[in-house]
Amino acid sequence: MTEPRGQWSGRMGFILAAAGSAIGLGNLWKFPYMTYENRGGAFVLVYIAAVVLVGVPIMMAEVLLGRRTRRCPVGAYLVASEKRPGGRTWVSVGYLGVFAGFVILSYYSVVAGWTLDYILLSLLGKLGPLARDPAALQTYFVDGFLHNGWQQTIFHLLFMGLTVGSVYFGVKGGIERVARVLMPVLFAIMLLLVIYSATTPGFGHAMRFLFRPSFGEMHSSGYLEAMGQAFFSLSLGMGCMLTYGSYMSSNSSIPRSVLQICALDTLIAILACVIMFSIIFSFDLQISASATILFTTLPTVLVQLPGGNFVIGLFYLLIAFAALTSTISLLEVVSSYAIDELHWSRRRAALTMGAVIAVFGVLNAWSLGASSALSNFNPLGKSSTTGVFGTLDYLSANWFLPVGGFLVALFVGWILGRRTSRTELEEGHGVMAGYSLWRFLIRFVAPLAVGAIIVSVILGAEYQ
Ligand code: TRP
Repeated sequence: MTEPRGQWSGRMGFILAAAGSAIGLGNLWKFPYMTYENRGGAFVLVYIAAVVLVGVPIMMAEVLLGRRTRRCPVGAYLVASEKRPGGRTWVSVGYLGVFAGFVILSYYSVVAGWTLDYILLSLLGKLGPLARDPAALQTYFVDGFLHNGWQQTIFHLLFMGLTVGSVYFGVKGGIERVARVLMPVLFAIMLLLVIYSATTPGFGHAMRFLFRPSFGEMHSSGYLEAMGQAFFSLSLGMGCMLTYGSYMSSNSSIPRSVLQICALDTLIAILACVIMFSIIFSFDLQISASATILFTTLPTVLVQLPGGNFVIGLFYLLIAFAALTSTISLLEVVSSYAIDELHWSRRRAALTMGAVIAVFGVLNAWSLGASSALSNFNPLGKSSTTGVFGTLDYLSANWFLPVGGFLVALFVGWILGRRTSRTELEEGHGVMAGYSLWRFLIRFVAPLAVGAIIVSVILGAEYQ
């Protein structure tokens, strides 16, 4: 007995769910951190170029492949590669995606769990006092929490529980419903924080830093980092958008939806920078190259501002919401594989896959707890190869996603055929004026640009 395949309630449902997937720790944490490292303006411009030239066309490719085949990534390549050059070997791209989803979720939800700890502390009224004493907070988080496998395990499992619970109730009743509630709240909190940051003395400095490009100051690796970050932030390269596209109605326009999702994701990333840099520059802080900024530096500053105790709680709630709609999309990819290809029920898929990933995540939490180089450790960052945890992140961000993205672009651009892609992109849209431009980008620009990343990773030149 197979259950009927889920579908979004409409175009808005798809946009909210997909934007929910895209907007996450990548926007609120990783992007500001990378922008700071790369000295602002020029990096922001390069990032936007990567989104427009590579991210947008690849997202359209993924969504069209999903909607065309109405299958999970593995099934999609199985159906779409039939009687085409390469045939079944393309299915391995689908498997790579499912595998990457598994790996990314197993460490992403550990980091997401940290936000739950801070929310709890804030509800108990303990976060404010801790944050007033930077040394105490540092001790609490870096020396205490991060080394405490048990504590991290509990919050990781809690986060996985929320994720499984959402996927369990299906496309419309779970994933879309959660996104419909959380995304507007997230936008509202974000707006509040932006307005708030505009009143801080560092706001002007932050704006200049972000919007006055100076290419001389950017590291040469910035181009490659921007591209990798575009993949991560837009949830591309592993069939996440493909899976969400497979639940999309034929009445909705793919090009329009994709443009809106990419614009939202980029806007949120930039606003996160506005908020964080306004605060950081207000206090003239030197942030170190560490993943713990979000959990150690920022709270100590936030708490000094008027209404600090409240703002601090709001801030971690924002991050948790953003992370949850992202972990949901990661679990959905893995579950949809079990549902479509192994013919499991959705409930069984969500519970079983969720449990296996949760166990794997527990190993990550413990390996992190046992790791000694924690203060310089950047779990979602670039060159971290600390322990199992860091290695997994390194592998996914630098290998799985770019390689997956490269292969999607090759498949849709060169194998799928012009008529198929055109029909699918115009279904629910009408004549697509930019079709030739899209085709040029997906056939030439995206593969060449992404190929450059892959080659540079191979040569080891990427993140030096
Ligand atoms: N895009 C999310 C973020 O910015 C993370 C994420 C969700 C993701 N699904 C993904 C990353 C698929 C890569 C692939 O935090």
